[in-house]
Amino acid sequence: MEGFAWKVAVVTGAGSGIGRALAIELARSGAKLAISDVDIDGLAQTEERVKTIGAPVKADRLDVTEREAFLAYADEVAEHFGKVNQIYNNAGIAFNGDIEISQFKDIERVMDVDFWGVVNGTKAFLPHLIASSDGHVINVSSVFGLFSVPGQAAYNSAKFAVRGFTEALRQEMVRAGHPVKVTTVHPGGIKTAIARNMEAPDGVDISHLSRTFDKRLANTSPQKAARIILDGVRQNKARVLVGLDAKILDVMVRLTGSRYQELIGPAMRRLLPGPR
Ligand SMILES: NC(=O)c1ccc[n+]([C@@H]2O[C@H](COP(=O)([O-])OP(=O)(O)OC[C@H]3O[C@@H](n4cnc5c(N)ncnc54)[C@H](O)[C@@H]3O)[C@@H](O)[C@H]2O)c1
Repeated sequence: MEGFAWKVAVVTGAGSGIGRALAIELARSGAKLAISDVDIDGLAQTEERVKTIGAPVKADRLDVTEREAFLAYADEVAEHFGKVNQIYNNAGIAFNGDIEISQFKDIERVMDVDFWGVVNGTKAFLPHLIASSDGHVINVSSVFGLFSVPGQAAYNSAKFAVRGFTEALRQEMVRAGHPVKVTTVHPGGIKTAIARNMEAPDGVDISHLSRTFDKRLANTSPQKAARIILDGVRQNKARVLVGLDAKILDVMVRLTGSRYQELIGPAMRRLLPGPR
């Protein structure tokens, strides 16, 4: 399988989960890495793993919601390595809370990290990717960017928005004749810390939901997810579905159209009985 020898890859949210696994798999494939996260301890562990593999790595604290810092960071990475080939806009947070009880600030926070973080990363790195003559933007959405689920309106909004933004970008790069490929990633349940770190409206206990996610919904390892994503990148896929659950859910939405909504509610009640 073709590697990523000498390509410079940027991974946000690389201190944990899918981001860490992407960094490690990219390092094994010969890439040079610029990794970042707000969690500097997690990031340091990823940096150590990547160094052990022998890949050149630049590790920085970066909050993807901080646009000016992201723009400066993109220039720094390009100067450090001399070019940038790939950005994996991966950093994200989860949130569970019905719209009725969520505050505006809750919804804005999820949009800030999960949508605007992706926009900031894409816009900051796009000039460098074009200049490289061999660029690729990889934006991480979710299966929740394919269909909506009660309690996930904020996350659904952000992940649908990532999908819309990224699918338009792919077409724009072709139309403009720019040498930049574009891929949207839709993971199903991946065994990471995301549900344990999930945020919720003040006073709402979501520990049961987090445990259910860890025990029953997260069936793909981050390592396997990273390999599937990188295979999709090698093949320049427009859309990468990660995990059997993602593939089944994608077919379900295609077959049922908007009627999927009648199936999701009862399925969620079976999975998560009791108050929301
Ligand atoms: N785990 C899943 O089942 C799943 C499913 C679908 C999509 N995703 C998406 O995959 C991506 C990675 O998630 P994961 O499952 O590896 O979760 P994770 O919690 O293990 O890792 C996410 C990382 O993002 C970092 N992060 C959070 N906010 C940040 C910010 N403002 N700036 C920079 N870094 C920030 C966290 O510190 C963490 O290290 C996310 O976009 C998530 O929405 C995950």
